[in-house]
Amino acid sequence: MTRFLSGVQPSGELHIGNYFGAIRQHISLQDEGEAYYFIANFHALTTVRDAERLSALTQDVAASYIALGLDPERAVLFRQSDVPEVCEAAWMLGAVTGMGLLNRAHSYKDKVQNGITPSVGLYTYPVLMAADILLYKPDYVPVGGDQVQHIEMCQDMAQSFNARFAEVLPRPEARLSSVPKVPGLDGQKMSKSYGNTIPIFLDGKKLKKLVGAIVTDSKDFKSEPLDPDSCAIFALYALFATDEEKAEMRCSYIDDRAFGYGHAKMALRDKLDATFGAARERRKELLARPAELEEILQGGARKARLVARSTLNEMRAAAGIPSL
Ligand code: ADP
Ligand code: TRP
Repeated sequence: MTRFLSGVQPSGELHIGNYFGAIRQHISLQDEGEAYYFIANFHALTTVRDAERLSALTQDVAASYIALGLDPERAVLFRQSDVPEVCEAAWMLGAVTGMGLLNRAHSYKDKVQNGITPSVGLYTYPVLMAADILLYKPDYVPVGGDQVQHIEMCQDMAQSFNARFAEVLPRPEARLSSVPKVPGLDGQKMSKSYGNTIPIFLDGKKLKKLVGAIVTDSKDFKSEPLDPDSCAIFALYALFATDEEKAEMRCSYIDDRAFGYGHAKMALRDKLDATFGAARERRKELLARPAELEEILQGGARKARLVARSTLNEMRAAAGIPSL
């Protein structure tokens, strides 16, 4: 059976870029094979340095995935830190990884260029990520486009390990979602680092205010046609709409002189409410029952750990380190 594995960092409020770029695909893959998903709280330590916040965000990711449709009976959902074998595997991979490989990481270089003083953890982030992946021997790693280089680095690390010791680690492939880049409020890529997100679980007045803040050009809709193809509202609406609905809104932009950006924003809000309304309620209910969530995560970790332990023992044996 095909195996999928992916991780999501508990480093901020989940937004609709995360949903269309990653979460939706993760959830639908539970019907196509064996799915392993974990909440990457060790990775998040590179940016979240507040214990309460990290643990709340971790719970939040778990509740959000389940509320959005992940079935913990079918998919294995766990916390990264509940499988500590990953740290040991990262050490072993690090021992066969050249500095040159890590020096080429775009995400590291971007962060340093943006003025972040890098920690050792930020630098070795791709090694921990490779360990996350390789321990589970997945066929595919479903991710957004920004993670592809990390998957390629993981493939290189698997190859280095296998070449030096023994053929233990299969090379996984990235699997990209069909929505590579969701625009944010300002039309740039939606990202929590740009402060331009629409959180999945925001509702009511706050959501109205945020959608109202989507940047548009200053065309006067009463006297000139609007351009759907350069408009962030249209691009966002298109993520939720059927082909017919998209065609209809496109016509309104171009031909309907009574249709302005306010109308498009209202239609987008309706789509957000219709798509996420039920999940918002489910998430609230789940967060109100933390013991149940904890049980789900522990159950997931038990299953994940069996797989991780077995691969780690193969790695140890290949490298001449006794098994535990
Ligand atoms: P952020 O950019 O907000 O920090 P993350 O880096 O935590 O988001 O991304 C988590 C997942 O969501 C990744 O797989 C990433 O590719 C995907 N993702 C994030 N933002 C977008 C976006 N605007 N469009 C498509 N996918 C996205
Ligand atoms: N780096 C990924 C992100 O920021 C999260 C992640 C950590 C991950 N480990 C992983 C994704 C392993 C896929 C597989 O989105």
